[in-house]
Amino acid sequence: MAVTQYSLPPLPYAYDGILTNPHLFASPQALEPAISAQIMQLHHSKHHQTYITNLNAALTSQLHALISNNLPLQLANQQIITFNGGGHINHSLFWENLCAASESKVTDAKQVVAEIEKQWGGIEEFKDRFWENDPITIRLTPLLGVDMWEHAYYLQYLNVKAAYLENIWTVINWKTVEEKFKGGREDVLKFLRASI
Ligand SMILES: [Fe+2]
Repeated sequence: MAVTQYSLPPLPYAYDGILTNPHLFASPQALEPAISAQIMQLHHSKHHQTYITNLNAALTSQLHALISNNLPLQLANQQIITFNGGGHINHSLFWENLCAASESKVTDAKQVVAEIEKQWGGIEEFKDRFWENDPITIRLTPLLGVDMWEHAYYLQYLNVKAAYLENIWTVINWKTVEEKFKGGREDVLKFLRASI
């Protein structure tokens, strides 16, 4: 019996900055100066890949643990699967939430902005409160996520996290936020099936 193995989703555009998938984001360089190419390459090819590698190993181990009725191993694997599966999902969504600054237009998310204005009073108020939000739970549908771990900014911003948080707004792909809002949960997580 085989178990599902996940793979790293490729960055959906070329390094020369020419969009190959207008719904997603440009090459790592295209996110500069908000996020350096060095960070993007390490973050995607090393950090995200590690989550996937660990997820796949735990899924394989879990299959054996289930067959052999090894409950302690099942419980240990479940924690690893939750952590690394979450890392895979969060990073996949994060990449889709970014785009070149020239493509980042809040006017592309008219319905989302209308909801933001209803709930927070305005886009600037929303930005101020955004960092207070807890990580999503399984019952909510993620529309916009930003990686706050040090590996997401430290090489470039060092300990000045506030500058990263300010600059990240210049490379948010509002078009994908709006599409996720309109499409619903099945749309948001479809990459999980596509990556199998
Ligand atoms: Fe990350």
